[in-house]
Amino acid sequence: MVLQAAPSADIEVRITSLLTRMTLDEKIGQMSQSTSMTTPLSGQIKEEIRRGRWGSFLNAGSPQDRAEAQRIALKESRLGIPLLFGRDVIHGYRTIFPIPLGQSASWDPDLIEQAARIAAHEAFADGIRWTFAPMVDITRDPRWGRVAEGLGEDPYLASRLAVSMIHGFQSDSLSSTGAIAASAKHYVGYGAAEAGREYNSTWVPEGQLREVYLPPFQAASDAGVATFMPGFNALNGVPATGNLFTLQKILRGEWNFKGMVVSDYTAIPEMIQHGYAANTADAARKALLAGVDMEMVSTTYFDHLKTLVEKGLVDRRAIDAAVRNILRLKFQLGLFDQSPPVPVEPPAAEALEIAKRLATESIVLLKNDTHILPLSKSNEKIAVIGPLADSPVDQMGTWTMDGRASDVQTPLAALREKLGDARVLYSPGLKNSRDLARDGFEDALQKARMADVVLLFLGEEQILSGEAHSRAFLDLPGAQEALVNEIAKLGRPLVTVVLAGRPLTFHETAAKSKAILYGWHPGTMGGPAIADLLFGDAVPSGKLTITFPRTVGQVPIYYAQLPTGRPASSSDLGIPLGNPVNPVGYVSKYVDVDFTPEFPFGYGLSYSDFKYSNLRVSAPKLRMGGLLTLAADITNTGAVAADEIVQLYVHQDVASVSRPVRQLKGARRVHLKPGETVNVQFLVTTKDLAFYNQRMQLLTEPGTFHFWIAPDSARGIEGKFIVE
Ligand code: NOJ
Repeated sequence: MVLQAAPSADIEVRITSLLTRMTLDEKIGQMSQSTSMTTPLSGQIKEEIRRGRWGSFLNAGSPQDRAEAQRIALKESRLGIPLLFGRDVIHGYRTIFPIPLGQSASWDPDLIEQAARIAAHEAFADGIRWTFAPMVDITRDPRWGRVAEGLGEDPYLASRLAVSMIHGFQSDSLSSTGAIAASAKHYVGYGAAEAGREYNSTWVPEGQLREVYLPPFQAASDAGVATFMPGFNALNGVPATGNLFTLQKILRGEWNFKGMVVSDYTAIPEMIQHGYAANTADAARKALLAGVDMEMVSTTYFDHLKTLVEKGLVDRRAIDAAVRNILRLKFQLGLFDQSPPVPVEPPAAEALEIAKRLATESIVLLKNDTHILPLSKSNEKIAVIGPLADSPVDQMGTWTMDGRASDVQTPLAALREKLGDARVLYSPGLKNSRDLARDGFEDALQKARMADVVLLFLGEEQILSGEAHSRAFLDLPGAQEALVNEIAKLGRPLVTVVLAGRPLTFHETAAKSKAILYGWHPGTMGGPAIADLLFGDAVPSGKLTITFPRTVGQVPIYYAQLPTGRPASSSDLGIPLGNPVNPVGYVSKYVDVDFTPEFPFGYGLSYSDFKYSNLRVSAPKLRMGGLLTLAADITNTGAVAADEIVQLYVHQDVASVSRPVRQLKGARRVHLKPGETVNVQFLVTTKDLAFYNQRMQLLTEPGTFHFWIAPDSARGIEGKFIVE
């Protein structure tokens, strides 16, 4: 379904009429976005709005300020052009859903769409009509802080989930009540920041760009996303903000994107620091020529475009084209005609219910020795220990400026509610995740001694992931490992719940824990979701959408790697972490850690077990242009009803360009009662098997294909077919 209505003739006529009446100053005003707004609106801002100085505001003002500003724009500016209020509504507005990386671990496009719809409704009610989401940057580097904001390492899955988010935000029509415009960001390659360091350069060969980094953006464009935002990064030496290849050739040319492009925050003048623009005037010209319609926060357009036009260095038509894209969006959103929305109410019951479901589906069970989980409610005393057990702000995660700590239900609160206060013995042990002081240990140990089972809530605070929060270490920060060591000595069974914005490495803690739930930053309803999972009122079903390394030294590590000429094998496993052994064999591995990840992409356990059998392929051979059905039976062989995320991977043996060892081509979440079998089918066309050859042509080459219908990227039942 394409959501953004094709430019309608009527709207284009209205835009043309406006363009003929607008002064150059008013046009450049439309192309300018500000983040400054006072409460109440100052006389100066009111005057600027009347003059048409701004086309948009971002992350600015209270709902009342925005309503008043809009009234002034519509009623008191010369041409009555409305303002467009944008805001970073990334994973919820008032109701906070799991961070996007967590949401992706649900592999549930429908639920993700519902969550985005709720976020849009809540934001809409506060006068917001544009979000800077979804972030569809593929990354294979958990050091990068913005891994939290993305949808994992896989382009196929990220594309599917991004489209769901866009549908959720934009609804069937941008003009409907509760719809807000979405933005695909950060175009493109931003997630490939060298060494995982924020804002660092990116080097991506064109084949990899087209196969890994561009597909989610193309999917967003095809789905009718209203806007695009280029990244802060330089891609192959050219800043994304002035990149003619990505913005003009690919986005506008190959994809025929008709929406609006907004720069990232001060990214236009940052092209000077990149060494790509000589000064702010040069930067403004380069950004405009690349097709950036609106400038976020910095004022190079306002300061220079008029003079550049007068000097003949910028064509007026380039300005008109940009303003047309901006006005079109305002018309499509119905901003010229709509009355101001009503302020948001506290989270509605339905919003909290969806937030809980999405948190429940996104949490991944990584380990469950001796089936210690689910815990029995007959345990007399439970110790709840750790800095993340009762930390509402941290639980919300990055980008939650409208979420309220007072709405958040923490694991501690939810466990007390489930078990009664008297049975829950709480001690944070540390003040926060980075705390190095050990003065809280004794209290924690005392509580642990009194308990039948110890629940550890470890991980990262909110501020350790997100924009500009890259890490060079992926360990549990602070004295968390030391706390675990002390508690482990007591011999009580340990169950660890990790709340974090990225994959962490916690090998030692994992070894000491009988079970591990990976909860990401799960949002407003994370506590009840975790409590339900711990006690079997819900069954874990999330699966990783990013590979978990054993140590940061393995990064980048991802499942869809190319084969090496000297692959390691299972006989090369068992190398102790961090302790070099005498190397044997000249194969692709490390001498001080196994070459495999700690947990592979797609991995996640359940309280039930699933058997994969009866693999079928509808025909052994497939003609070019044809279609195949690949199928398997999935049986719930365990004792509880549960969801399983069934995955389809494909590998082409020989091609003109070496193909990844596996590539995800399908996924389905199925619900199975104990003993129930379901036949899961995937349709594959030869188009789905296409890749970019050395001449950058997207083609399917004949050959032998292996496929796996699998519970994760490292296992599965295997078959093959031939494309002729
Ligand atoms: C900078 C971030 O990179 C971008 O994702 C965000 O939308 C803008 N700031 C606006 O806050």
